[in-house]
Amino acid sequence: MADIHNEKQTTPFIRLESISKGFETTNSPIDILSDASLSIAQGESIAVVGESGIGKSTLLHILGALDKPDAGRFFFREKDVFSMDKTRLAAFRNRTIGFVFQFHYLLSEFTALENVMIPGFIAGMPRREIRPEAEAILVRVGLKDRLSHRVTDLSGGEQQRVALARALVLKPRILLADEPTGNLDTKNSAQVHDFLLQLNREMGMTMVVVTHNMKLARYMQRQMTIHEGKLVDIE
Ligand SMILES: Nc1ncnc2c1ncn2[C@@H]1O[C@H](COP(=O)(O)OP(=O)(O)OP(=O)(O)O)[C@@H](O)[C@H]1O
Ligand SMILES: [Mg+2]
Repeated sequence: MADIHNEKQTTPFIRLESISKGFETTNSPIDILSDASLSIAQGESIAVVGESGIGKSTLLHILGALDKPDAGRFFFREKDVFSMDKTRLAAFRNRTIGFVFQFHYLLSEFTALENVMIPGFIAGMPRREIRPEAEAILVRVGLKDRLSHRVTDLSGGEQQRVALARALVLKPRILLADEPTGNLDTKNSAQVHDFLLQLNREMGMTMVVVTHNMKLARYMQRQMTIHEGKLVDIE
């Protein structure tokens, strides 16, 4: 894999500064994140745990530059992410971030392999270049024999692993994963844990993983939750 992960860190890698995010509801507006700040070092792995509805996915969507906060700033290597123009922001989402959604959003009419190739097509890579990468990553997540299966013919756990492969195929510097083992049995969860650990240890991939799985959470260097709209370390 590329040596982008070995760069020396001179500035904070990721920094959220006084982020607030709320939603309008029929009754009243609700504040989910409120003046929340967070610094993440390059190569750090963070588990975000906690009750349903506290804002874990909301946080991940901001880190993935998919949702803009109402206030506050998000810096990647001291560059203000939401001040980038549309093209740069799209490239940031495509190349720097790998995102595993809570509800995986695979294209159901396409095969596992095609789904994993899509980020490469978006990045403008030729098919002959992206195809071997996509195959290799699908093999890594244990789907060697499912490459040409349509997504609709895969089990929930297999779909989740396709989503993980899609997030990783371009070797992003940052992996954001929302419940990546939510649908997996013990054996496949362990396989995904090992894989994530390997990515973190061997390639220094920075990761923020939302999980209800305490075993996975303990594998990460730092465990955090959201309390009264703020990000707090546990213990
Ligand atoms: N687009 C939206 N419009 C209105 N409310 C929203 C929207 N998105 C999220 N919310 C609300 O914000 C709160 C936080 O949602 P979020 O999805 O971040 O929770 P979560 O911690 O990921 O929960 P879970 O563990 O169930 O996935 C919830 O109460 C949710 O209903
Ligand atoms: Mg969620």
